[in-house]
Amino acid sequence: MATVISVTNQKGGVGKTTSAINLAYYLARMGRKTLIIDFDPQGNATSGLGIDKKMLEGTMADVVLETKQLRDIIIETEHKNLFIAPSTPTLANTEVELAQANRRFTRLKNAIDNGPEYDFIIIDSPPSLSLLTVNGLIAARYVLLPVQAEFYALEGLGQLLETMKLVRKSMNPTLDLIGVLPTMVDGRTSLSGQVLAEITKHFPAKIFKHTIPRNVRLAEAPSHGLPIGAYDRFSKGARAYKSVAKEVLERVG
Ligand SMILES: Nc1ncnc2c1ncn2[C@@H]1O[C@H](COP(=O)(O)OP(=O)(O)OP(=O)(O)O)[C@@H](O)[C@H]1O
Ligand SMILES: [Mg+2]
Repeated sequence: MATVISVTNQKGGVGKTTSAINLAYYLARMGRKTLIIDFDPQGNATSGLGIDKKMLEGTMADVVLETKQLRDIIIETEHKNLFIAPSTPTLANTEVELAQANRRFTRLKNAIDNGPEYDFIIIDSPPSLSLLTVNGLIAARYVLLPVQAEFYALEGLGQLLETMKLVRKSMNPTLDLIGVLPTMVDGRTSLSGQVLAEITKHFPAKIFKHTIPRNVRLAEAPSHGLPIGAYDRFSKGARAYKSVAKEVLERVG
């Protein structure tokens, strides 16, 4: 059975998609058959992997509405062992349709349970605590929480942890935080250091040993449709995500 990790933080622009793409890429490089599920209507993981959204046979919207099976929409990327289930803005419409539907919380879990076998499935969540995000939390064994090293980083995290607690109590008792990943860390500023200390205080056992530096190559890579490891594998950002992927393997055991 796949180890399912949901990359979640309802705050926007904290590095969820960057982390999802690059973690998935390095897990695949390390020989793990890996699927990235783009579960954000923005479809950033889809375009970040160079997928042309106009050429899609199906998307996660079809899977959520159960008009297509997960296996029918999955695309093999040009990177060995790495697959993607793409999304487009139509995914946003499904939330309205789902609102009253039966089994609306377990659409993603069911799709994964009935889908092809992988070693890892990485879910890229939208920046909200929406029905889609909750579907992700119910489908996942772990949450990976990227936190941007900036002043408001910890605001709103209480709400996410509360949602995780509710999910654990109701539908997914084994949901666990695999780790908190500080992103866009700028070693030159004392603010970054202070925020890092604050994050560590809140999650002493959960913070990843390796943090992600602010690195322009990481920001450039998606415009070339490439993970950082294929765009510039010697960059600081590439080395950081490779280390995080190794740590994920250790933590999963
Ligand atoms: N470590 C980094 N260094 C420099 N730029 C980064 C880094 N991580 C992410 N970025 C850039 O910051 C922006 C936000 O990152 P990203 O899209 O990964 O965040 P997100 O949490 O997925 O956003 P959203 O909430 O909108 O889905 C992007 O332009 C991305 O390229
Ligand atoms: Mg994103």
